[in-house]
Formats: sequence, C-alpha cells, structure tokens
Amino acid sequence: MKQDMILVLDLGSEENPRLAREIRALGVYSEIYPHDISAQTLAALPGVRGIILNGGPNRVVDGVEIDASEAVYASGLPLLNIDHKGEAALPFDAKARRETLSRFVFDTCGAQANWNMDNFIADQIELIRRQVGDKKVLLALSGGVDSSVVAALLIRAVGKQLTCVHVNHGLLRKGEPEQVVDVFRNQMDANLVYVDASDRFLDKLAGVADPEQKRKIIGAEFIRVFEEEARKLDDIRFLAQGTIYPDIIESGTKTVKAVKSHHNVGGLPEDLHFDLVEPLKMLFKDEVRACGVALGLPKSMVYRQPFPGPGLGVRCLGAITRDRLEAVRESDAILREEFAKAGLEGKVWQYFTIVPDMRSVGVRDNVRTFEWPVILRAVNTVDAMTATVEEVPFALLQRITQRITTEVKGVNRVLYDLTPKPSGTIEWE
Ligand code: XMP
Repeated sequence: MKQDMILVLDLGSEENPRLAREIRALGVYSEIYPHDISAQTLAALPGVRGIILNGGPNRVVDGVEIDASEAVYASGLPLLNIDHKGEAALPFDAKARRETLSRFVFDTCGAQANWNMDNFIADQIELIRRQVGDKKVLLALSGGVDSSVVAALLIRAVGKQLTCVHVNHGLLRKGEPEQVVDVFRNQMDANLVYVDASDRFLDKLAGVADPEQKRKIIGAEFIRVFEEEARKLDDIRFLAQGTIYPDIIESGTKTVKAVKSHHNVGGLPEDLHFDLVEPLKMLFKDEVRACGVALGLPKSMVYRQPFPGPGLGVRCLGAITRDRLEAVRESDAILREEFAKAGLEGKVWQYFTIVPDMRSVGVRDNVRTFEWPVILRAVNTVDAMTATVEEVPFALLQRITQRITTEVKGVNRVLYDLTPKPSGTIEWE
C-alpha cells in the first residue's frame, strides 16, 4: 500500500532515531536521511509529505556548518526546523514537543496515520515475493529475536522456498534448540535443518582460556558449519538476514561516527555468493518485536532477554569443560525460572549465571566438598553502555541459592555480583 512518510534530515543531531520513532509512534512512517540528500534520491522516495531538519551538536563538520541540500529547499515540501544546539538536554518527549510534531505531521503536511504492523507485514510479503520470485532463500536461524522474526516473515511470504539452518554450538541456554525446532518445524512447518555441532565446538575450544580467543573460535567455527550446510543445498540464490535499523544507524552517519561496524554479513567465502533479503532493515527493535507477535511467534521468543553470540561460552570462565558448562546451563535455567515466578521476567533487562574456573571448600551431608561457586548477575540498562544492578529481594536470592546448591551438580556456593558497569562489564568475559 502507499504510505505517507516524513523524512528526518540529519543535521548533526544525536536524536535522529528517537525523532523517527516518535513520528512512527504517531502512526506515520519515517526514515532518516543525510543532510546532503540528492534531488534524485528525494524524488525516488515514495509518499514523502514533509521534512524535519534535525540540527544538533554535531552540526559543524570539519569546521564547516552543514545545511540541508538545495534539493530539500527546492522540493516545495513543508519543512520543520529543529535545532537542539546548546539545548540538547531538553527532554525530547516533553508534551509541547509532541504537540509541535503532531501539528506539523498532520496539520501542515497532511500526512495520514497509516503506518502499522499489519500494513508493514502485507507490504513486506509482497516485496519479498517480488524480489525472490521462485528462487530459494537461506537463513541462519539462531533463535534470537531478529532471525526468528525474519524466519516467520519469510515463511509467510515464500513458505518452503526458505531453508532455515539452526546451528547448535552447544553453548545455548537450556531448552533453546528444542524451542527453535518446535516453533519452526512443528508449528510453522518450515524447512529447518538442525545441526548439532556441540562436539565440534567444544573440541575446538578445549583448553582455550583467553576470552577473545574463545570468541574468535566460536565465530569462525559458526561460519564454517553454516557454510558446510549451505554447500549441501542446491540452487540457493538469496541469503536472508535479521539486519535491523539500529544496525544500519550504528554503522555511522555523516555526522556521527560509527558505534560499531555492522557485521551481520561477515565471513562467508567469495564463491558462496548470495543476494541479500533484509526485510527488517527499516525497523527499530520494539517494532521487530511487535512484528514477531503479529506473525504469531511465542512471546517467550520475541521478548527474550539479550543473549550474546558466543552464548554460555563466555559465562563458563576460562577453558570450557563440559561439566562446568552444564553447571552454567542448569543454574541459568533455575535463575530464569525463579525470576519468572517472582514476576521479574521482562522487568529486569538481563540476568544470568557465571561459573568461574575455581573451587572452594564446603560441606554437604557432613562430608567435605571442593566445588565451584555460581555467580548471579542481574542488571538494568538502556543501551548496554552503562548498567546498574537490580536490587533483587533477599528472600529470592536465598531461594535461588538453596535450589542451585542442591540441584546443580558440582556447586557448593552462590554469590551475587553487586558491580555496576562501569567498573564491571555486563558479561564476565
Ligand atoms: P558487556 O559485557 O560488553 O555487554 O557489558 C554488553 C551487552 O552485549 C552483550 N555481549 C555480546 N553480544 N556477542 C554478542 O552478540 C558478544 O561477543 C557479546 N559480548 C557481550 C552482553 O550480553 C550485554 O547484553
């Protein structure tokens, strides 16, 4: 369907994503563009009703104050100037600001509020079908939010033309690979290749204690396994990816330096050439979740807490052993279960357990033990750059301690990490 759009023009503001989200929250689609947008690009964008010139503290680039391109002023479209120079701290969601925005979008530009998930899904299905035709698509399905939503969308659009590959590297949380198989193979009837590569990964990781080395091995082995599976399949033309809008924004703009390089694509060999299908690349994270819910994915999958790519591998400190890894997995499952029972699921940003490579003396049934401790971590954050520690009720900590020390093999103590970020990071490795 044809939808109206308001452009956010980046004139050095750090608030571009927030502004675009505010506009979308009004029900009107919005995208961010660089200040020097060309007349051609502008003319090719469908449904543009108005442009917001979003100035801010980074407006001076290489000693020169930037301005919107000629094309913007010549477009004849309604323009709204916002400049947070020196007033960057002004609360963005102040009511007055919302009203100004709403008046511009609806009264001045005459935009229709026709941006919603049902329309987005219908549009994407059509676009995917047009792009893919009768060809085959491959997707690395980790079970994380983004890849799961891409899978659900592609299943709707092209059904069995999609093959999902789920690589179990042996470092997933308890129940995760089973849930992926259950949701996608059993419930959604997708083509799913499930690869249990646990032994391969654990063999490669044996004796490796350095955290960065562990990450590298896990990343490289993941690509190798995925590549092997891809080579077994015939006629794959497209690779689907769960790239989302923040991945693109964080790769850097003309006025803001890259936060991190966008590495979703990374690593596949040259001769495995695929065209990319990235249906979520204009969505913010909360919109990705809403899309997942609208497509019928379970809430536990769509609202799950962040989980690092190297998984439990960076929570089994030092050289990974199977028995300690099992202690991480089992204690993590208990922590999650108890947090859910206490109503903390979805309220605390991230919580997990860590098992260090050290032992201490304890006693059980009058017998001396020499076993590992489990460390509990529960933090809240907005952007993962800084984090505060959740004030978990003491009785809950005691209950979790009781369960872990009786149910998890090889563990005789439980500790709670009180360190915010900084000075700690969220993960221990
Ligand atoms: P740190 O430990 O840096 O973590 O404070 C910040 C957030 O990033 C997650 N994290 C990772 N995610 N690959 C990932 O995909 C990684 O190697 C990785 N390391 C940390 C961490 O779980 C937290 O949410």
